[in-house]
Amino acid sequence: MSKKPIILGIESSCDETAASLITENEQGNPIVLSSIVSSQVEIHKEFGGVVPELAARSHIEKIDWIVQKAIDDSGKKIEDIDAVASTAGPGLIVCLSVGLSFGKAFAFAINKPFIAVNHLEGHALSPKLNSELNYPYLLLLISGGHSQYLNVQGLGKYKRLGTTIDDALGEAFDKTARLLGIEFPGGPQIEILARKGDPEKYDLPKPIYHKGGCNLSFAGLKTAILRITKKIKTEQEKFDLAASFQKTVEEILKKKTKVAFDEFKKQIDPKEKIFVVAGGVAANKKIRSMLINLCKENNYQSLFPPIELCGDNAAMIAMVGLEKYKLKQFDNLDYPAKPRWDLDENATFLKGAGIRL
Ligand code: KG4
Ligand code: ZN
Repeated sequence: MSKKPIILGIESSCDETAASLITENEQGNPIVLSSIVSSQVEIHKEFGGVVPELAARSHIEKIDWIVQKAIDDSGKKIEDIDAVASTAGPGLIVCLSVGLSFGKAFAFAINKPFIAVNHLEGHALSPKLNSELNYPYLLLLISGGHSQYLNVQGLGKYKRLGTTIDDALGEAFDKTARLLGIEFPGGPQIEILARKGDPEKYDLPKPIYHKGGCNLSFAGLKTAILRITKKIKTEQEKFDLAASFQKTVEEILKKKTKVAFDEFKKQIDPKEKIFVVAGGVAANKKIRSMLINLCKENNYQSLFPPIELCGDNAAMIAMVGLEKYKLKQFDNLDYPAKPRWDLDENATFLKGAGIRL
């Protein structure tokens, strides 16, 4: 039996400090040995959003014991680790720098390779942590900072089919929550409040619904919500608005995913119809079930990460590290933090005003 690689993953791109050890079994399926995530929600709550300086300070305070705990919980020793993978971007530069520097120093100290990971690639590969997943596949990445449809052709090989031209979907959930007076981070709360409301009560806009391919837009939705919240008087109206927002988002994603299916089909062998949904918003149960049904109707296999691995974590960073390790794709210790880092670096930058729809 050959020794399987053990990878330490480290994540600190925004407001979660995380570390994880993963390996794989004889069949090459990943095994998560430990996954520690420490959220900073309590620190940022009173400010209604992430404060970069406070986030960085908290990462610095916690990173040592989080990595130590990930090693302890895995049942392995430092000498068992074969490589260290840290998120290098995209994200807040002051936050990225903490996990990146720590990871480089750790790799240097144990004399093992260092691997720089794109956080978005971590989300893209996260379903591999619990399911077999082969390339190519269509990916819908819906997180707090990104909303994109991508043709994932292989490790590091992404072709963007569509993106948001303004707000990310998670951002739209968070902003709607704030307008409804829900504490940060409100995104997940919207889904819960929506269950008590009437989704037909408010008719909300669906920007670029009939044009723009599978590009997305959510900024108009937020403006409409702002207008309605000024007139809202009762708790029930609040639930109705949350339900109407949730329903509108589902309708937008349903329509745009069908367009993405058509575009993806032009680029692949029809036998390879796999649809992966990842990122924080992939934890939304109603969005999940709507997309599962859509996949059934269109003969796509659908795959999601487990709910607990939809948000930011280090197991997904270690997962990318494991794949890169097997291909001997190592990085130098002068690898920079990259606050902007697109998965498809050839995709043109779409700006709200500039996009031709
Ligand atoms: O992937 P993630 O943890 O961080 C980024 O890389 O951005 O995504 C965080 C986003 C937040 O905007 C959060 O409100 C949203 O995911 N989110 C949800 C749900 N859980 C997290 N949005 C809608 N429904 C949920 N259940
Ligand atoms: Zn993320």
